[in-house]
Amino acid sequence: MEFANLSLTVREDGIAWIEFNRPKALNAFNTETLLELEKALDHVAADPSLRVLVLTGGGEKAFVAGADIAEMADMGATRARVFSSVGHRVFDKLEKLPVPTIAAVNGFALGGGMEVALACDLIYASDRAKFGQPEVNLAVIPGFGGTQRLPRKIGSMRALELCFTGDLVSADKAREIGLALEVFPAAELRACVDGIAKKIASKGPLAISAMKRVVIEGASCDPRTANLLEQETFGVLFGSEDQKEGMRAFLEKRPASFQGR
Ligand code: CAA
Repeated sequence: MEFANLSLTVREDGIAWIEFNRPKALNAFNTETLLELEKALDHVAADPSLRVLVLTGGGEKAFVAGADIAEMADMGATRARVFSSVGHRVFDKLEKLPVPTIAAVNGFALGGGMEVALACDLIYASDRAKFGQPEVNLAVIPGFGGTQRLPRKIGSMRALELCFTGDLVSADKAREIGLALEVFPAAELRACVDGIAKKIASKGPLAISAMKRVVIEGASCDPRTANLLEQETFGVLFGSEDQKEGMRAFLEKRPASFQGR
């Protein structure tokens, strides 16, 4: 698929990479890029062989430096509300994708750039990454889900500190506060994240997808309903060929081969 501001690579091993590529604006999200991301997500969501999706930024400097300030500058309230709702719609799609998603944050992940990473299941950073919600410097608030996803990931006091000050934090600090899982040398980020993606892709895909659904949907249910969801889903997986294969392989002391059935 051809896009103006990003590239999508879908490999035979079921791992797909989206690379944001809009160097003149440090990969900032204008409406066109958001809609391209949505198209790319719709495409991969329809591919039954997809196992893991990774997002990263093209170039040396940025993952995504935020929503496009030039596009937003003259917006009135109604257009800004629509712009925000498009970001929410696209990032909700990303969050609900039935496969694990990973943000490989290679540089600036600011504002909407941090928000797209927050909509991923896992965040890894290069030692050159910088994270922040600097919207306050523009006299606005995060508009693509940051006010909700950030406190859920790192706690409301840390989230409010980042949003009140607009400070950028280093990759090491991001790891310390639970915003990034690991920090890799810049030159090794892609290979390291690819290794993690391959490991996840080697597991039973039905279990991985069910796990993601139970964790994400369970978080917005009361604990009793969430626990019921876990029990039902645990049971349903015993109707799969992969569950039989996984348990037989363990008992027969051989590696399992999962088919996603
Ligand atoms: N939107 C539009 N253009 C941007 C941009 C953005 N978010 N971030 C950077 N650019 C552009 C710059 O305007 C500049 O363009 P020109 O070369 O045409 O002047 C180019 O990218 C390179 O940027 P800088 O010269 O500023 O590079 P730097 O190394 O000096 O600084 C930076 C890098 C610290 C990331 C700085 O560019 C910056 O602060 N960018 C803005 C970050 C920001 O405020 N993001 C939040 C946006 S609001 C938002 O995201 C709302 C929301 O939640 C929906």
